[in-house]
Amino acid sequence: MFNAKVFIENSLQEIKKTVGDNRVISACSGGVDSTTVTVLVHKTVGEKLVAVFIDDGLRREGEPEFVVKTLKNLKIKTKYIDAKEEFFQVFKGKTDAEEKRKAFREKFYSTLGKVAKEEKIQFIAQGTIKADVIETVKGIKSQHNVLEQIGINPQIYGYKIIEPLKELFKPEVRMVARQLGLPKEISERMPFPGPALSLRVLGEVTPEKTAIVRKATQIVEQETNGLSTFQNFAVLHNDKATGIKNEKRVYGNIITVRIVNSTDAITAQATQVPYDKLMKISKRITEEIPSVVRCLYDITDKPPATIEFE
Ligand code: XMP
Repeated sequence: MFNAKVFIENSLQEIKKTVGDNRVISACSGGVDSTTVTVLVHKTVGEKLVAVFIDDGLRREGEPEFVVKTLKNLKIKTKYIDAKEEFFQVFKGKTDAEEKRKAFREKFYSTLGKVAKEEKIQFIAQGTIKADVIETVKGIKSQHNVLEQIGINPQIYGYKIIEPLKELFKPEVRMVARQLGLPKEISERMPFPGPALSLRVLGEVTPEKTAIVRKATQIVEQETNGLSTFQNFAVLHNDKATGIKNEKRVYGNIITVRIVNSTDAITAQATQVPYDKLMKISKRITEEIPSVVRCLYDITDKPPATIEFE
């Protein structure tokens, strides 16, 4: 039986043994995994920690502000990096899912490398968990935060990586987060992938397409707030479909809504959401986002589908 208290005690010792009196950067996206790691490292090295939030332009509505505020409330020194333009630049012309994932990973680690160099810090802490490693090693997809396990030495980016949660699954991470006293809005937070909305914009990722899926995501999250499901989100398709807006034919965007249940993200089940809820989501998405003419609901389990579309 997993004991979060014992895990935390061992973890603090482990981190101390690895980093000694050195300063550490924690790559924090505001999700439960990376925030838990940030707090663990903060407990170990205190002021020697700098949490870094990279704004890649792919976050949900209001997310950058939420993360910076959360870290401030936790009294953790935080650096906000505006890398929006640079990230959109690397997606230019890329339509293949794995190519996009790798482009994100490269930009993510090189951005951290720049910060590490500026701050003269050698250690980067990140919230990789067991499911991330399993799926990347199996070759299902390249998770953005898995390097050493697939033979890439992070020293090429100029730093060493520490991953205190890499043996835990999501439910255990939540237990650790609760034990650390993290606010509920973090410890119970819905999982959100590191490459963020880039996995939910099919085809080339552009600021315009990201804005569409960001708005659709906000609607889905608002309308599914009361469901205790594992992950709820929207996906923007790369192809278009015919519809009618303002009594005129338009060739517009297609959004798929995905609502799944899972415990460890290794398998997942499409959820039987009440039909009126789905209808409300569809109505709002097609009314509030001018370019969207069609809203679909994904009824596929994992496997054969994955949770994300890319
Ligand atoms: P899939 O799509 O593989 O996702 O069924 C399983 C879980 O992992 C999340 N996910 C990621 N998380 N970096 C992350 O930090 C990634 O590259 C990544 N890809 C997928 C996904 O949201 C789900 O919770």
